[in-house]
Amino acid sequence: MKDLKGKTTLVTGASRGIGREIAKGIALLGGDLIIHASKLENLGETEKVLGNYGVNVYKIEGDLGNPDSVNSMIKELDKNYPPIDIIYNNAAISCSPQSVFELDRSLMNKIMEVNVYSLITICNHFIPKMMERGFGRIINFTSGINRQPALEPYAISKAAVDKYTKDMAVLLEGTDVLMNLLTPGWVRTEMGGADATLGVEDVFPGVIVPALLDKGGPCGELFQVPKYVGLTLEEAMGI
Ligand SMILES: NC(=O)c1ccc[n+]([C@@H]2O[C@H](COP(=O)([O-])OP(=O)(O)OC[C@H]3O[C@@H](n4cnc5c(N)ncnc54)[C@H](OP(=O)(O)O)[C@@H]3O)[C@@H](O)[C@H]2O)c1
Repeated sequence: MKDLKGKTTLVTGASRGIGREIAKGIALLGGDLIIHASKLENLGETEKVLGNYGVNVYKIEGDLGNPDSVNSMIKELDKNYPPIDIIYNNAAISCSPQSVFELDRSLMNKIMEVNVYSLITICNHFIPKMMERGFGRIINFTSGINRQPALEPYAISKAAVDKYTKDMAVLLEGTDVLMNLLTPGWVRTEMGGADATLGVEDVFPGVIVPALLDKGGPCGELFQVPKYVGLTLEEAMGI
């Protein structure tokens, strides 16, 4: 079976929900982790769960809604943490249903800051380092949200992530840095709510597939977690 021994993965938004499951999946494959949340104290439960896997776990905080905080986090990662091989840009915020014909600019700005601009800042900082080191896997979280105008601020942010990821793929051609999109399906988390169709544990193995791609694998493509539900990791890698 493939493993992630010797590789370090940054998971943004690892304090709960899908981010915590990603971290567990990476740890199961022997990979070291840098788990992130807006505040260090939010990471206690995830850190505790990861204690059972025998991998190195580092914590980092950074408010993705605040550019200064993101820049300090990146400086800190460069200075005091191991080089990053894999990034899950998982952290995001959504919104409650909005009045369709009234634009709440401050809400829109906040969502774009967290879901798009900080994701781009992180990618733009670490992609050149990955290219220099000759390896990288980046997984940007998108959504299948469609035709829900009341949630447009969130939907637009994910469309921007799609565009960025697909366009940047051109730049990565011929390198072993693969950046892809992943949609988790509708998952019972704080964001997804109690009525969602998938349990949070169902995101494994689908979420791990794009981290394990071989050189020459897809780049700028969409991975859909629901396709892999109920499969073993080996079966999932065979799809
Ligand atoms: N759940 C679904 O049905 C669903 C469907 C489609 C796509 N997605 C996508 O899947 C990803 C994970 O979603 P989820 O359901 O696991 O969400 P969640 O349970 O709400 O978790 C969100 C994570 O993002 C972090 N975060 C939020 N705002 C932040 C900020 N300003 N700075 C730093 N970290 C921040 C949170 O950490 P702290 O608050 O502790 O800082 C938390 O760890 C997201 O990209 C989401 O858009 C989810």
